[in-house]
Amino acid sequence: MNNMNREGAAASVPSESEVTERVETLLGRMSLAEKVGQLTQVGGADFIPGPRPEEIIRSGGAGSVLWLNDTKRFNALQKIAVEESPSRIPLLFALDVIHGYRTIFPVPLAMASSWDPSVVERAQAVAAKEARAAGLHWTFGPMIDIARDARWGRIVEGAGEDPYLGSAMAAAQVRGFQGPYPGAPEHLIACAKHFAGYGAADGGRDYDPVFLPEAQLRNIYFPPFQAAVNAGVGTFMSAYMDLNNVPASGNRWLLSDILRDEWGFQGFVVSDAFAVGNLVIQGFARNGRDAAFRALSSGLNMDMASSTYLQNLAGLVEDGMLEEAALDMAVWPILALKVRMGLFEQPYIDETLLEQVVALPEHRQEARLAAQRSMVLLHNEGGLLPLPKTLQNIAVIGPLADSKEATEGSWMVFGHQPAAVTVLQGIRAKLPQARVEYASGPEIRRDFPSPFEDFDTENKKPSQTPEEANAAFQAAVETARRADLVIMVLGENAEMAGEAASRSSLDLPGRQEELLKEVVELDKPVVLVLLNGRPLSIVWAAEHVPAILEAWEPGSEGGNAVADILFGDANPGGKLPVTFPRNASHEPLYYARTLTHMPEDSPMYVSRYWDSPTKPLYPFGFGLSYTTFSITNLRISESQVKAGQAVSVAADVTNTGQVAGDEVVQLYIHQKAGSDSRPMRELKGFERITLQPDEAKTVTFQLGPTELSYWSTKAGGWIQDAADFDIWVGADSNAALHTDLTVIS
Ligand code: NOJ
Repeated sequence: MNNMNREGAAASVPSESEVTERVETLLGRMSLAEKVGQLTQVGGADFIPGPRPEEIIRSGGAGSVLWLNDTKRFNALQKIAVEESPSRIPLLFALDVIHGYRTIFPVPLAMASSWDPSVVERAQAVAAKEARAAGLHWTFGPMIDIARDARWGRIVEGAGEDPYLGSAMAAAQVRGFQGPYPGAPEHLIACAKHFAGYGAADGGRDYDPVFLPEAQLRNIYFPPFQAAVNAGVGTFMSAYMDLNNVPASGNRWLLSDILRDEWGFQGFVVSDAFAVGNLVIQGFARNGRDAAFRALSSGLNMDMASSTYLQNLAGLVEDGMLEEAALDMAVWPILALKVRMGLFEQPYIDETLLEQVVALPEHRQEARLAAQRSMVLLHNEGGLLPLPKTLQNIAVIGPLADSKEATEGSWMVFGHQPAAVTVLQGIRAKLPQARVEYASGPEIRRDFPSPFEDFDTENKKPSQTPEEANAAFQAAVETARRADLVIMVLGENAEMAGEAASRSSLDLPGRQEELLKEVVELDKPVVLVLLNGRPLSIVWAAEHVPAILEAWEPGSEGGNAVADILFGDANPGGKLPVTFPRNASHEPLYYARTLTHMPEDSPMYVSRYWDSPTKPLYPFGFGLSYTTFSITNLRISESQVKAGQAVSVAADVTNTGQVAGDEVVQLYIHQKAGSDSRPMRELKGFERITLQPDEAKTVTFQLGPTELSYWSTKAGGWIQDAADFDIWVGADSNAALHTDLTVIS
């Protein structure tokens, strides 16, 4: 198909009036059935029952295809759409490109740990460039659900617990995926998901109902979505679950009142997969017809994969239940996007493009940098890390040490062949002269298989028998015994976090902790590298293992990045975007709680639990470095301001150690009294800076009405109270450097 128009090659962007004119012309000549088609997204994968996509597309019954990752087939299906379907409207090809297409970046939770929006933006730009070169137009990302319960498997896909950090990451991802506008060449249309509240599932159980008061939604769960709208995101995805007893995919308040009327979103909303049909299963809609009616009238434009629109919308219009104008309104932004993208002029993709794009060396370099910047040093007793490159005899132990799947993490695009540099490979490449012995120890596995296991190769291997597991355990201990230093690579495999991957425990799965204990007993220096997609309960390790590096699921270059950090070629500077609880039963646990009548630091109430300290194992915003920093001289431009005015807050940061390093300077506020109780701390500013030894920099933050306002339950709206505030600046959410601010009316 080389002679076909090459999509993405210098196309001119049509003006808004041209777009309007062309959309209106198209709508004028489309039949009712074709309009319904544009509101329908069909699955291209073989596991989807029902008619083949070719058939549906030929009859004009699809506006978009998902779950297909095959450049040749994209062109073949597009040819049917533009040459054989009645209105000849090109298709949008959509897929979950979450943290990389061929070059895999750290999982989103890891990227948020970088506290570096520029690195995240560049990562998603690379992902978009590769995916677009494969023929995709649209990704179902970023996932920007706030998650405060690590049992919820999808915490791996988001930016953690905080709305301020989450908003910065949401906007950065939208900019990276989309470039200058939705549909720009070499980019993907982004999709902010899952609107809204999905991360607050009861008990952390995926898909379970969510009950959130409006103040929580407005102050905590909505901000990243509004940030995505402000960054120009092209599409939204409605969430699966019930929000306060109204499923998000049939929720007019969410999809119309908030999203369109309040925030001015101009793009379109796609449901989550099968969610329109599932309104019946959820006990909300009476039948498919009712489901289609309620979803469309709530503001949901496109039905992902359930065919409920395809089967019911035309009938609803013919029976007078829906106005055809309502369908036109729903189709409008979909057609507008296709026009803006230039798809009518250049519907096809050059089938040779992808291999040229993925070969660009900067893609791998960006992946390595993103992985280095995402890692969080949790513990480093006696400065065990960085390790000397003169080490001659190392053991690398653990079920994830040589696992490409675990290194790349959850949410690979369809058909992706894991190709990551594993931690073992990264260490061997770093120390080519040393003896680096490896043993996996017993395997780890989910107790209940993942519903997505069919796509996964790793889990298809037959399980180890107990005898094989024992032998693997002993072999690992013996391998460790022969070494001078042991690097344990433990955590969760890729299937253990993500969709339908909630857990009731946050312990290291399987026999990993038992193995860690045996190895620590050998009395050798031990470094623990964690590969995982959620906070884990590692209390024993924190007390007994001198060095712990949270590497998350670091992507294609993960093993190299781990080795860079372990051997001092990169200095860790990531910070936790989520609280590490001591125990799963403490969840949800997050730093921005409100005060109580009996604060936890009051002498008689040391802990809320009588059997365990409530204090987190590691607080939000925490992370160490190979150097040390001092943060001093906190000052505020004015200690009293009128509501509506801004102050600047500055502090001096000095690298007081021996090597260059990064500090993430964080600003927290607390409003002491007002219309509502406010969280005891809220992040309202951060900056990651690099300092050479002895170098000092001043970091300055602005605090204005945006940072000092909130949505008040008492007032039933956004307000800025006249109130006293605590301000802290420091290196994590326990920052102690303090000043005061008074806002007067
Ligand atoms: C279901 C997931 O919830 C959503 O995040 C994803 O984008 C769709 N499936 C499509 O794969």
